[in-house]
Amino acid sequence: MSETDVHKGLVGIYADVSAISKVMPESNSLTYRGYPVQDLAEHCRFEEVVYLLWNGELPNRRELAAFEKAERAERRITPRLRQVIAAFPRRGHPMDAIRTAVSFMALEDPETADNSDAATRRKALRLLAKIPTAVAARHRLGHGLRAIGAKPNLSFAENFFHMCFGHVPAPEVVKAFDVALILYAEHTFNASTFTARTVASTEADIYAAVTAAIGALKGPLHGGANEAVMHMLKEIGRPERAHGWIESRLDHRALVVGFGHRVYKSGDSRVPTMTRYAERMAAVVGDTRWMEISRILAAEMLARKNIHPNLDFPAGPAFYLMGFEIPMFTPIFVAARLSGWASHIFEQAADNRLIRPLSLYCGVAERPVRPIGER
Ligand code: COA
Repeated sequence: MSETDVHKGLVGIYADVSAISKVMPESNSLTYRGYPVQDLAEHCRFEEVVYLLWNGELPNRRELAAFEKAERAERRITPRLRQVIAAFPRRGHPMDAIRTAVSFMALEDPETADNSDAATRRKALRLLAKIPTAVAARHRLGHGLRAIGAKPNLSFAENFFHMCFGHVPAPEVVKAFDVALILYAEHTFNASTFTARTVASTEADIYAAVTAAIGALKGPLHGGANEAVMHMLKEIGRPERAHGWIESRLDHRALVVGFGHRVYKSGDSRVPTMTRYAERMAAVVGDTRWMEISRILAAEMLARKNIHPNLDFPAGPAFYLMGFEIPMFTPIFVAARLSGWASHIFEQAADNRLIRPLSLYCGVAERPVRPIGER
């Protein structure tokens, strides 16, 4: 055994089989349960895609109605959780708030310790329904506003806008948000999904697995990148400054957030769809400067480094143009990716083996312990 046997970052390692989604870097494509993600984004609502991920097939009208009814019935969070959220320090990041809120939900749910498939699916539905409510409550309470309750007559996307802002925006804005939720829903063994599977493999419950996954998603190399992208665009500020800014970053061999991907090396399959909707958002809002800056950065990264943007690159400005403040971006990613995490937790539990890799020791050789007086 030598260091050449070590796959740092687990690059190129197949850790298990999975029937949920497939990334095909050679054709820049991604399918959920066999369906191209861009077709799902065009023809389905997020709720249909969640049903697909969890059940393997798209729902018919009756199945969708029953699924939506069940989701809408679970949207309320308890007054006690609302109080806990209100007590969070205001300057903390909403990702820490939602991670803590999910952890708290485990304490409230009488089914937390029941790891049967049926109970885990019921808990997944609760998480799907309650995470947006908790994210929106934290947003409003953190700004000294009163929380707005969930509305059972609204879709998942519409209800989130209503809980955050007190109104549902134009249908194009809701559609762009729904598309982002669908594109963010699932992506094979990314870091947070693998974290969720690792925790589930210990037979810990879904709340433990999702809490850990939220921690993994927070990092700027993973979900946190969508926030970093918008900070970068705001720092650049104007299209005229974009060229000089990126030249100087690349001259200093610095990382440019929103670019590159561990699996896709010649383009992220989700980017064209999200970019189209981000451009549409820019037109709806009448503010095209972020997308103009984005176009310059993307062209320069391709010309100089041959590196393509990832989904976070168009999603960041799209969320901003929808009216969300930057620290909400990764919590929105949580609300979407919960669907993927849960399907992987179901799959892991159905054919479980504890995930426990090896490490190749590279520390000092074995030696005796000397009593403290002799050291
Ligand atoms: N900006 C500048 N250079 C980049 C880059 C970026 N965003 N992403 C990759 N590169 C460069 C690396 O510096 C490296 O160059 P080198 O060979 O000269 O050292 C080369 O491309 C290969 O990158 P590598 O770090 O091996 O890729 P990876 O598969 O380990 O990393 C990411 C993938 C996503 C972690 C990486 O691309 C990154 O940090 N991107 C920015 C963060 C981001 O947007 N994350 C969201 C991912 S969906």
